Amino acid sequence: MTVPLLKIGAVLSTMAMVTNWMSQTLPSLVGLNGTKPGTSEKIVKERDLGTLFPGPEDGWQIYTSAQAPDGKCICTVVAPAQSTCSRDPRSRQLRQLLEKVQNISQSMEVLDLRTFRDLQYVRNTESLMKVLDSRLKVATDSQKTISTRSFQELKDKMNELLPLIPVLEQYKTDTRMIVQLKEEVRNLSGILLVIQEEMGVYDYEELQHRVLVLEARLHACMQKLGCGKLTGVSNPITVRASGSRFGSWMTDSMAPSSDNRVWYMDGYYKGRRVLEYRTLNDFIKGQNFIQHLLPHPWAGTGHVVFNGSLYYNKYQSNVVVKYHFRSRSVVVQRSLSGAGYNNTFPYSWGGFSDIDFMADEGGLWAVYTTIQNAGNIVVSKLDPTTLEVLQTWDTGYPKRSAGESFMICGTLYVTNSHLAGAKIYFAYYTNTSTYEYTDIPFHNQYSHISMLDYNPRERVLYTWNNGHQVLYNVTLFHVIKTSGEL
Ligand SMILES: *[C@@H]1O[C@H](CO)[C@@H](O)[C@H](O)[C@H]1NC(C)=O
Ligand SMILES: *[C@@H]1O[C@H](CO)[C@@H](O)[C@H](O)[C@H]1NC(C)=O
Ligand SMILES: *[C@@H]1O[C@H](CO)[C@@H](O)[C@H](O)[C@H]1NC(C)=O
Ligand SMILES: *[C@@H]1O[C@H](CO)[C@@H](O)[C@H](O)[C@H]1NC(C)=O
Ligand SMILES: *[C@@H]1O[C@H](CO)[C@@H](O)[C@H](O)[C@H]1NC(C)=O
Ligand SMILES: *[C@@H]1O[C@H](CO)[C@@H](O)[C@H](O)[C@H]1NC(C)=O
Ligand SMILES: *[C@@H]1O[C@H](CO)[C@@H](O)[C@H](O)[C@H]1NC(C)=O
Repeated sequence: MTVPLLKIGAVLSTMAMVTNWMSQTLPSLVGLNGTKPGTSEKIVKERDLGTLFPGPEDGWQIYTSAQAPDGKCICTVVAPAQSTCSRDPRSRQLRQLLEKVQNISQSMEVLDLRTFRDLQYVRNTESLMKVLDSRLKVATDSQKTISTRSFQELKDKMNELLPLIPVLEQYKTDTRMIVQLKEEVRNLSGILLVIQEEMGVYDYEELQHRVLVLEARLHACMQKLGCGKLTGVSNPITVRASGSRFGSWMTDSMAPSSDNRVWYMDGYYKGRRVLEYRTLNDFIKGQNFIQHLLPHPWAGTGHVVFNGSLYYNKYQSNVVVKYHFRSRSVVVQRSLSGAGYNNTFPYSWGGFSDIDFMADEGGLWAVYTTIQNAGNIVVSKLDPTTLEVLQTWDTGYPKRSAGESFMICGTLYVTNSHLAGAKIYFAYYTNTSTYEYTDIPFHNQYSHISMLDYNPRERVLYTWNNGHQVLYNVTLFHVIKTSGEL
């Protein structure tokens, strides 16, 4: 098992190589790394400077100007070269394609970054394995000297390694995909090079189609590689201690990374006041916030801010409300058919937590239960615009025995308690409609979790723990493996 792990370094350096190659070599191959000096010509005019010349947006630029001895103005104008004229449709198309390929190369950089964190985990695991290896050697060499305590240590270390086993298969598939994508990008830029040499001989439509297909495949690949199975939760970081025992707080996972606004909703019933802090730092200091007053009070703590709107459960009903922050208005509300409410089917801590909204890499979800489902957790994918239920899964896990639940990459993870000693106990995979029992510990520092949600943008868990706002990092496991041909 150690051998494939040792090869991971090679994969990442290959990916870095590809990225460099695409971002540096590719543009120069097609001549787009700098502005091309066009054919320059001198134009002599008997007028004042500037007024008559087309702007740079037409591809023309005033280069120099001078006063001739006879008083005339002399301007040197750089006219666009024929082949790069913006009115040449082929050239424009080529530029667009090139931009696409460059965008793809940027995406590959992101991919590289995303896998980096998981690589760290693999490295740690690798050193653990080495320790384990040598200990096992010692153990077999001198069977008498091994104590019960060392055996326990070995067993503990083995337990830490267990998450590795189910992901090793995935590991193979992922690398194959990257190798293939690499070849496709290489092929494509080869074609672009050919075009530059023989403008016009190529079928642009076919080329464009190939770029589109490649782009879609890369996007799918990134989603997949960014996703993974939850194998670990870090130590908690307490961001702030504020508010009552129960509440919720979050950021918008759909917002661009520059938007770090924090939303804060204290209390679990009849609340209407949502505080919006400008940044996480402001939230920590309790400064720079504005207030939104909801037209309908909320129930529970399962709210989520998604793409600029708050989705929450209206008090004493199973109505889902979508409140749009910028327009400060309810844009749509709809009953979640059959969903229990008003403390009929809460999580183990009660608090009107019948309906829990959440967002992951795949979109917006609602977790609740119905009489028909006998109180077992159901998870529904929601259309964020209409609030219609797109698809529903019955997980079979009793909601009242669940502390909280959160969604990562289409998988619902359920804790077995809101109190000290809670662990992530159950996972339901919507992709395969299957479940398994898990044993993922985490430190429940303040012993009463009333909100727990994953944020796919930051890849962290947000929790509200007994009046503390707490974050956890997660380890999502997917590995990239080399098979030696790289
Ligand atoms: C464009 O690429 C060529 C070849 O790699 C290089 O010599 C030149 O300096 C580059 N120009 C700019 C503006 O980067
Ligand atoms: C490339 O990415 C930029 C920024 O993300 C975007 O504005 C542009 O439209 C993209 N170009 C193409 C051809 O997709
Ligand atoms: C790349 O081009 C080669 C030669 O033209 C071809 O055999 C191969 O199938 C192409 N690869 C991909 C992934 O398109
Ligand atoms: C389903 O999702 C889980 C977790 O995201 C992943 O480990 C598993 O490979 C996926 N299964 C299929 C068949 O895609
Ligand atoms: C997010 O909102 C924008 C408009 O505000 C919309 O165009 C886009 O489709 C929304 N995205 C999702 C995933 O709902
Ligand atoms: C909700 O439950 C309370 C008791 O906890 C009850 O008084 C009230 O009538 C219920 N409301 C609805 C709409 O079911
Ligand atoms: C998560 O990991 C990042 C990078 O290692 C670190 O900066 C951050 O403080 C961690 N957050 C938590 C909650 O552990």
